[in-house]
Amino acid sequence: MKGIILAGGAGTRLFPASLPISKILLTIYNKPMIYYPLSTFLRAGIKDILIITNEADYENFRKLLGDGSQIGINIKYRIQYVQKGIADAFLIGEDFIEKDSVALILGDNIFYGKNFGNIMKKAILKNEGATVFGYKVPDPERFGVIDFDKNKKVLSLEEKPTNPKSNYAVTGLYFYDNNVCKYTQSLKPSLRGELEITDLNKIYLEKGKLNVEILDKSFKWFDTGTHESMLEASNYVNKMEKNGVTIGCIEEIAYKESFISAKNLWKNLEKFGDKNEYYNNIKKLLVSNK
Ligand code: G1P
Repeated sequence: MKGIILAGGAGTRLFPASLPISKILLTIYNKPMIYYPLSTFLRAGIKDILIITNEADYENFRKLLGDGSQIGINIKYRIQYVQKGIADAFLIGEDFIEKDSVALILGDNIFYGKNFGNIMKKAILKNEGATVFGYKVPDPERFGVIDFDKNKKVLSLEEKPTNPKSNYAVTGLYFYDNNVCKYTQSLKPSLRGELEITDLNKIYLEKGKLNVEILDKSFKWFDTGTHESMLEASNYVNKMEKNGVTIGCIEEIAYKESFISAKNLWKNLEKFGDKNEYYNNIKKLLVSNK
């Protein structure tokens, strides 16, 4: 399974903060926003990753994450020159996906749940159709909305409906089989001129191949598209980390998933010296696991 992180977009809702730099590179508590979706992929065991950026920030993303070898993964980059919607990721990434199945995560989506790694690994094993994750929210009109019956059978999917049929938002993490590029090619732009991810999911729904996993209250999900949600997410990560639970630390997860050995990770961290709290915490973890 390959993974695409969609980190394009103009971030106009966060201006002026996101005027000089992509919002996906802004900080959520103590690390750049992209560390969180990237760490979600790492927890799923996905290590072949394509990052789609806007033109202006391409070099900044490369400066931050390079080719991924410093944590034992492979990262490639592509530019989305024109904002054509979320599903456009599968047209831009078609030659990266090749014959594989693929996961997509939106650069501003933060997930935390104790067993989430295993839940995602199960979705990957399905290998057919699509899997999306639903999460109960107070403001479903901001999102794609799933309506389902008592048996969790999906009845409908709607993008940002004025009158939502349920309180369940479709989160920005999607797993697809290799039909995804073919289905995307058949999509027509919506009224706002975008290839909608909801329209793509509807194709899977119509074919009876859409699987929905509901993330319960023990999970935390943030779409950090506003200042308010960025602050809320920062406060949450801060609180969790003070209680000894690290969230979004890509080095820690890469090490735990055995993408990189302790020895090589340590070597890669040496260049940051001993005055950086973020890297010092990772060194402490390596020492305590010796
Ligand atoms: C996008 C999708 C929406 C989904 C949301 C999750 O909306 O279009 O279906 O629920 O991501 O974050 P956006 O946040 O880009 O407006």
